[in-house]
Amino acid sequence: MKNIAVLTSGGDAPGMNAAIRAVVRMGIISGFNVFGVRKGFRGLINGDFEKMNESSVSDIIQRGGTILQTARSEEFKTEEGQDKAAKMAKIFDIDGLVVIGGDGSFAGAKRLSEKGVACIGVPGTIDNDLAYTDYSIGFDTAVNNVLDAINRIRDTSSSHERASIIEVMGRYSGDIALYAGLAGGAEGIIVPEMGFELDDICRLLIERKNKGKLHSIIILAEGAGDAKQLEQQIMENVDIEVRSTILGYIQRGGSTTAFDRILASRLGARAVELLAEGKSSRVVGIRDNKLIDMEIVEALGMKKVFPRELYELAIKLQ
Ligand code: F6P
Repeated sequence: MKNIAVLTSGGDAPGMNAAIRAVVRMGIISGFNVFGVRKGFRGLINGDFEKMNESSVSDIIQRGGTILQTARSEEFKTEEGQDKAAKMAKIFDIDGLVVIGGDGSFAGAKRLSEKGVACIGVPGTIDNDLAYTDYSIGFDTAVNNVLDAINRIRDTSSSHERASIIEVMGRYSGDIALYAGLAGGAEGIIVPEMGFELDDICRLLIERKNKGKLHSIIILAEGAGDAKQLEQQIMENVDIEVRSTILGYIQRGGSTTAFDRILASRLGARAVELLAEGKSSRVVGIRDNKLIDMEIVEALGMKKVFPRELYELAIKLQ
């Protein structure tokens, strides 16, 4: 194997740049020519490649987003699109590919591996919804972005004695809501894995108010409900002013935390090592702070276990 490539796919995540940097630098150290593929699998289909050198990845370790850009390619989901992508890799003599993304990107990497392009997946998604790894790149930065927002919203909430609902990302996973809620001392955490009863939320807010609390913060994962709707429902039931804030894409950008930079550097470098060892169709991850790797198909087949003890702790400490 002489030429390897790296791409980012799906929703961007802070730390993807740190992972690209690690792949490029480790690739060069290992004696590979390293190519960057722009715009994910769509770029692979179109042959949108760029030869990378050490300085192509200078000054990016701290930056959110992805210098290679990303895309959700409909064409690549088809057999024809995958054939075109594999053909393009052959034309450019690329035998190994590092795919940085989430479960959809890993499914694509598996298909490409079956078509003869050795692929290694690196977990990059703020949702932290991949079961096989304790953490995915971008999650920690997103949690810290939410924490920053909680602090700001708390100031204005107590000034007006309001309850605030903060809607965070996480379509199927409540990890961002849970970790930010626990770290931010939120009064309520609503996640898709646990659901919620409106009456419980109303009772909680009244109890807080009766204890003389000036504000209450409820963190709502987007997959568990709609912030505006919940705001209305609460105000119909209790005499407390409620305001909701949907944080949206602000969570996905900004400077990458040290945790994510270190995680991305370790995982990116390990992915290159696996390609150098002739491995394919595998993903890298982290468990108990140790790097692991396994078959993509095995990783995708695992069901994420919600950290219930953290949720229960957060509820106790409210
Ligand atoms: O997968 C990460 C994520 O940020 C989700 O939490 C969110 O619902 C989704 O991506 C939105 O991404 P986009 O609008 O870019 O498709």
